[in-house]
Amino acid sequence: MSLASQPNAAAGGDLPALHIAMVGHAFMGRAHGNAWRQANRFFDLPFRIVPAVVVGRHAQRAAEAAHKLGFLHATTDLDAVLADPSIHVVDVCTPNDSHHAITMAALKAKKHVVCEKPLAMTLAQAKEMAVLAKKQKVRVGLWHNYRRAPATMLAAKMIARGDLGAIRQVRASYLQDWLADGSVPASWRTNKKTCGSGAHGDLNAHLIDLTRALTGLEFDSVCGVQQTFTKERPDGAGGTAKVDVDDAFCFLAKFKGGAIGTYEATRVAPGRKNHNCIEISGEKGSIRWNLERMNELEVFSFADARDGQGFRTVMVMDGVHPYAANWWPDGHIVGYEHTFVHHVVDFVRALHDGSAFAPGFDDGVVVQAVLEAALASVKSGKWVKVAK
Ligand SMILES: NC(=O)c1ccc[n+]([C@@H]2O[C@H](COP(=O)([O-])OP(=O)(O)OC[C@H]3O[C@@H](n4cnc5c(N)ncnc54)[C@H](O)[C@@H]3O)[C@@H](O)[C@H]2O)c1
Repeated sequence: MSLASQPNAAAGGDLPALHIAMVGHAFMGRAHGNAWRQANRFFDLPFRIVPAVVVGRHAQRAAEAAHKLGFLHATTDLDAVLADPSIHVVDVCTPNDSHHAITMAALKAKKHVVCEKPLAMTLAQAKEMAVLAKKQKVRVGLWHNYRRAPATMLAAKMIARGDLGAIRQVRASYLQDWLADGSVPASWRTNKKTCGSGAHGDLNAHLIDLTRALTGLEFDSVCGVQQTFTKERPDGAGGTAKVDVDDAFCFLAKFKGGAIGTYEATRVAPGRKNHNCIEISGEKGSIRWNLERMNELEVFSFADARDGQGFRTVMVMDGVHPYAANWWPDGHIVGYEHTFVHHVVDFVRALHDGSAFAPGFDDGVVVQAVLEAALASVKSGKWVKVAK
């Protein structure tokens, strides 16, 4: 046997294979494709992940993506992929309006599914997906990747340990500016039929999930306001297309137990690129995290000596911090793409040993319920209870 043909145990050559089919291959396809390929290289996993097939709508584009992202095959035939018993996991990274149909088909074919956020277009769809996943006894995950930055993991640990005491206030904002320019063309992200809502479903979905994950707080009721500043955009074919979703969406929240929160999502805040920022205040202290400085966690504690009190910045890339030891020596920071790798690592481990994985579709249902309640509140101009 030549050296080249020997199985490489260090690369997982002696492990059972886990074959991945990835549907969609643009922005999230690149992030997920990279994560499926990187996970075995940096983490000891119970499976050898095989990026098997990219599913797209155009054969040539899917083939190019498969080549670039390191998948073995490309196809436009999702049904054939779902009928293939060698495929174990279906990864859904297509626009929001297709999540339900693709996921339901994959679940019916008894595939494990990891789906992009928001889980669905409506609460009813999300519930249907969660119910079928349980019935089929397969594992599912939702790509709220910001749960898996080392610094947000540390924040969750500190809050669970009681470092902040009882949580009183949540301040969450996700600010971008790529739609501030009215000449940016319309896309599936500006059309209600394909995305459901604008900055709200896109960005507030992440804030809702992350603040729930960090604090354990559950929403009681919400009150929202939204605005569409640019009502028509170039359609890319010489005409214009109507924009029927929010550019900016803010809502107030009351949580069960008495805490309160503010949420703001916008794609028209000049200067803000990907400002995903969470500040949580408890009776004893506060934490603040901002994706744009994602390796840092700002921490304040009244327990610190009075004359030395103030927010301090913890560099969360020390060997003791979540995932850090699998990457680089202390202080050698990680980036956006690593959150997706961590998601893959935890999902694959959960798949193997049957342990819990979050966020799952039940979490997606809760996020959808909050999104929907806030939309209903904008319509009625009143506070709206979040559905159970
Ligand atoms: N987790 C995150 O941080 C994050 C970030 C961006 C987007 N997203 C979510 O990921 C999803 C995809 O967003 P994106 O930014 O990658 O979009 P995108 O427009 O960059 O890519 C969408 C891909 O899906 C393909 N596609 C569209 N309809 C399809 C269909 N019916 N069947 C097969 N392929 C189809 C397109 O050809 C393209 O490859 C959305 O739900 C979005 O909300 C999540």
